[in-house]
Amino acid sequence: MADRIVNFNPGPAALPLEVLRTVRSEFLDYRSTGMSLIEMSHRSPEYDEINNGAMALVRELMVLSDNYKVLFLGGGASTQFAMIPFNFLGDGKAGAYVDTGSWSSKAIKEAKTIGMMHLAASSKEDSYRHIPKPSELDIPADAAYLHLTSNNTIYGTQWHDWPDAGDVPLFCDMSSDVCSRQLDFGKFSLIYAGAQKNLGPAGVTVVIIRDDLLERCKDGNPTMLDYRTHAEKDSLFNTPPAFGVYIVRLVLQWIKDQGGLAAVEKVNFKKKERIYQLLDLYPDYYRGTVEPDSRSWMNITFRLPSEDLEKKFITEAKAAGMGGLKGHRSVGGVRASMYNAVTIEGMEKLARFMEAFKKGN
Ligand SMILES: Cc1ncc(COP(=O)(O)O)c(C=O)c1O
Repeated sequence: MADRIVNFNPGPAALPLEVLRTVRSEFLDYRSTGMSLIEMSHRSPEYDEINNGAMALVRELMVLSDNYKVLFLGGGASTQFAMIPFNFLGDGKAGAYVDTGSWSSKAIKEAKTIGMMHLAASSKEDSYRHIPKPSELDIPADAAYLHLTSNNTIYGTQWHDWPDAGDVPLFCDMSSDVCSRQLDFGKFSLIYAGAQKNLGPAGVTVVIIRDDLLERCKDGNPTMLDYRTHAEKDSLFNTPPAFGVYIVRLVLQWIKDQGGLAAVEKVNFKKKERIYQLLDLYPDYYRGTVEPDSRSWMNITFRLPSEDLEKKFITEAKAAGMGGLKGHRSVGGVRASMYNAVTIEGMEKLARFMEAFKKGN
């Protein structure tokens, strides 16, 4: 096998090697059926087992009560930006949004196109360097929902204290930190996440929705954009992204085998601590781009003293077997994305490289 790099890509991103090996070994002949899973009906008992198994693991790992539905949809997290306002805006009610970066802004744009949007808070003026304090949020009591982005993949910020929205349902885009830490997921009425960071390949979006929200879905939407369509059919209304769901199921099982969210949280804590300690140790060299209390555990963003040094850093890291460290094209700099599948050893390799690079440059 060719050498694999330490993969710091922001998404699609590193997946557990054990999972990739299982996928490879099962690819041509899925569990003695004589065909690949991608050649098989999504109405087969084999796919039923995958679909039900993946739903059950989401429930178990996130400790969800029975009044939540777990869905596996196509269209990426970006389709959720539109599906949410289509289903929940109307009757003179606005969707309240907190703008914490590019992905929140895209969700806001869709809400404005489809219905009424109320800006509850924004950190745009501060170049998205921080997450607003829960007490700063302006949430209309009659808002249809409050929408947050739990982790801002591009800017490297993450929510650590959650607002109390009262009776307003809390919705959250958890694309880039789902299943990376323990949370009281019961706080949320709707959670969605594109799978391609912590859960699997691109093409599947996990949606978790509470029953009472399903009852509030607006009539008159195209069938595929109505959450009830998918909830009533256990995500089998049309042909689902079956191969992706299969890999998501394997990744969820891998998380469970690690010891669940408590265990991956511990590892993720160690990883981020080590790298942020370097930023704190050499603040004039590795210049963190966000306020310390808003730091993301998943995407660590920083600048070097010059763009030339940043280029050199990324090039030399790549030559040393570490990929995906270039910051998003809209912000530049360096970004180390350390999702669940990036190991402590991988992170340690980066930390040692950072120390050596600073000494040499
Ligand atoms: C936080 C967040 N939300 C939404 C998206 C968009 O996801 P998709 O490409 O699945 O539409 C991304 C992609 O990186 C993301 O990081």
